[in-house]
Amino acid sequence: MIKYLRKYWLFFILAPLFMLGEVSMDLLQPRLMGTIVDEGVLGLSNGGVGDMSLVIHTGLRMICLVLFGCCCGIMSGVFANLCSQNYGNDIRKDAFRRIMALSFEQTDRFSTGSLITRVTNDITQVQNLLSQCVRGFVRTFLLFAGGIVCMLTLHLSFGIVVVCVLPLIVLCVIFFIAKTNPMFTVLQDRLDRLNNVMQENVSGIRVVKAYVKEDYEKERFGRANDDLVGTQLDVLLLLSYMTPIMNILLNVSVVAVIKVGAIQVGAGHTTPGDVMAAVTYISQILNAVMRMTMIFQTVSRGVASGRRIKEVLDCDPSITDGTFDGETETSVKGKVEFRDVSFAYPGMGTEKVIEHFDLTIQPGETLGILGATGCGKSSLVNLIPRFYDATDGQVLVDDRDVREYTLSALRGKIAVALQKSEIFSTSIRENIAWGDTSADDGQIRHAAGTAQALEFIDRKEEGLDTQVAQGGHSLSGGQKQRVAIARAILKNAEILIFDDTTSALDLKTEAELYQKLQKEYPDTTKIIIAQRIASVKDADRIAVIENGRLAACGSHAQLMESSGIYRDIYDSQLKK
Ligand SMILES: Nc1ncnc2c1ncn2[C@@H]1O[C@H](COP(=O)(O)OP(=O)(O)OP(=O)(O)O)[C@@H](O)[C@H]1O
Ligand SMILES: [Mg+2]
Repeated sequence: MIKYLRKYWLFFILAPLFMLGEVSMDLLQPRLMGTIVDEGVLGLSNGGVGDMSLVIHTGLRMICLVLFGCCCGIMSGVFANLCSQNYGNDIRKDAFRRIMALSFEQTDRFSTGSLITRVTNDITQVQNLLSQCVRGFVRTFLLFAGGIVCMLTLHLSFGIVVVCVLPLIVLCVIFFIAKTNPMFTVLQDRLDRLNNVMQENVSGIRVVKAYVKEDYEKERFGRANDDLVGTQLDVLLLLSYMTPIMNILLNVSVVAVIKVGAIQVGAGHTTPGDVMAAVTYISQILNAVMRMTMIFQTVSRGVASGRRIKEVLDCDPSITDGTFDGETETSVKGKVEFRDVSFAYPGMGTEKVIEHFDLTIQPGETLGILGATGCGKSSLVNLIPRFYDATDGQVLVDDRDVREYTLSALRGKIAVALQKSEIFSTSIRENIAWGDTSADDGQIRHAAGTAQALEFIDRKEEGLDTQVAQGGHSLSGGQKQRVAIARAILKNAEILIFDDTTSALDLKTEAELYQKLQKEYPDTTKIIIAQRIASVKDADRIAVIENGRLAACGSHAQLMESSGIYRDIYDSQLKK
């Protein structure tokens, strides 16, 4: 992820440089303060007579230095933020792009909640890490190293205190870091779980209420929340022990410096002003070490988050582009062929949902697909636009293996209306035009007309401009399906796939839709999955699927004659 910094290298360098300016001013202050005490107040080199003008003069210098330090601090903050915010922004965009390219199986594996946490919270943690590195860490390190040097230049004997106390403090810091570090990964995982529960409940709120499961879900949320709070508390409790222990060590050090200083002043080796400065330096040094623990906390969280973002960024899409851009040399347009296709969902072992499936669908043909729920109908058609790849065998579109096409060329040939109509929270017009953003009003209305959607759209006050609520909740199930069908029709693709998309339409509307479709798009290959035999009775051929295998295929009349399964379905649905 370092490569994302390249663009912002200047900010990355300027932030610590300005920080160097701020810290230098901080380190100069105690010395000037010492001068005021020794010369201005005690007048050590002037026979005990203080020098008021030196006090004023040095005081003014101190104010100027503070102001300069402030400016440096502000500039350092500005550059650190420019660097970390832009860095995070670029990663966020790339992570989103990568998520869009992942296959269904990969997004399922990460889980939606986790992907959201990674793109939001985790990136914020990494931004904090970067900001701490270029500012907090630099400041702390410079104060620590600079403080030691300045103190030793006052008098070497002050080094005894540093040598005695520092190892103790460093040991404490290491102890706390070692204890808290692993907790941060756990913390992020718990946040993932909380987000997953939250997301499931908000999107499924209607089911939760319908089943009066609020209490159950509250408990599930409560558990996830308690787990998160528990880990957070563990971290915070551990850190709360740290501050008092560090304070004790700090106070002991101050007393030790004063004691050493008093001895040296008595022996005439140093001055009271230098002892005062040394007290400030030892506080700065030890505070720096203490701050290191906080910084390390941010670093630990940032590193854990960085690892999680990297997992997304490094996740190569399992469905990759081919090289063929779809311009077939032959005039075949809309042919689909399954050649001995078998398919098992990734991660589900060898359990095949499609087995040895052979079928050719000719251009312009209407193929109905029937079969019991869970027999593999959706899984089969999902192989055509490569939502998944066949485990064995080949799927061909226009006589080319689907894996040879670039994804955009392949998917450009196919319009799918999915089993669950995905409706976006925008106007009906935009929802339909999703299939072809360049479509004008006439084309949109025409597609809506074919999809039998125009009648309900025109009844709405704002017509096509009616805004749809998130998830399409302001439309009925059948209306959503019709908008999704219109979207697919508008795409005017070679192959049109309806995955049980007319289930919520009444038989009359459904029949009108298919008649219009046949009349207006005779050359388009239509694959229609349906539960009702009436939906596909007039198709050129009907494929009957049983347990992932092609059980029978033919026209309604042929199947009535030759297929027992088909007759059984017919009898169960249509026979009075
Ligand atoms: N993403 C998935 N991961 C693992 N298994 C899956 C996945 N989607 C579906 N399955 C399984 O594959 C089998 C076939 O599912 P599919 O959705 O193709 O059935 P279907 O014939 O379309 O059913 P329906 O008529 O109910 O829509 C089912 O047993 C289902 O549990
Ligand atoms: Mg299905």
